[in-house]
Amino acid sequence: MGKFQVMEHPLIQHKLTIIREKNCGTKVFREVVDELAMLMAYEISRDMPVEDVEIETPIQRTTQKTLAGKKVAIIPILRAGLGMVDGILQLIPAAKVGHVGLYRDEETLEPHEYFVKMPEDIDNRQLLVVDPMLATGGSAIMAIDSLKKRGASNIKFVCIVSAPEGVKALQEAHPDIDIYTAALDEYLNEDGYIVPGLGDAGDRLFGTK
Ligand code: URA
Repeated sequence: MGKFQVMEHPLIQHKLTIIREKNCGTKVFREVVDELAMLMAYEISRDMPVEDVEIETPIQRTTQKTLAGKKVAIIPILRAGLGMVDGILQLIPAAKVGHVGLYRDEETLEPHEYFVKMPEDIDNRQLLVVDPMLATGGSAIMAIDSLKKRGASNIKFVCIVSAPEGVKALQEAHPDIDIYTAALDEYLNEDGYIVPGLGDAGDRLFGTK
């Protein structure tokens, strides 16, 4: 079973509280999601492999560390996942970005794929699939199915708020992937919202209703 990690760093928890607040407007919501994504990327990258490299400082030759692992691709699930891309790119600026477009049928809550555009070499990259909310798990499962069909195997899923129902469904469908979240909330309500959650992440990021 892959890792399941709630990121309890005080800055992450503090910023999450800011965006949960219903009076937090679009500008601050967007900025803080950006900061959260950056902080989460910092925590996730903690176990990236490094190797020795010989360099020359102005003083002498020396052996130091450099990143050695697979190159990264960030895969936002449209549309709310877009809000997490720039924050991660601040730390991993050479990452490629692929997109998976899914929409949720408002009646059945089932996800449907309408757009996929991936870097050519996703089979050779560490993929960070990002979506602020892991609710039923339907979108995450479908996005990861789609990536695996295209040859991807190194996949981490990164969300800001998760529901126990979504975590269970994702772990059952894709036991090999690691899941990172800033919070594991209480439950999903009958409208498919995470409780207490933060509402509709896409609407709050983009100022729509
Ligand atoms: N998607 C959201 O944006 N919010 C939820 O609470 C659940 C799914």
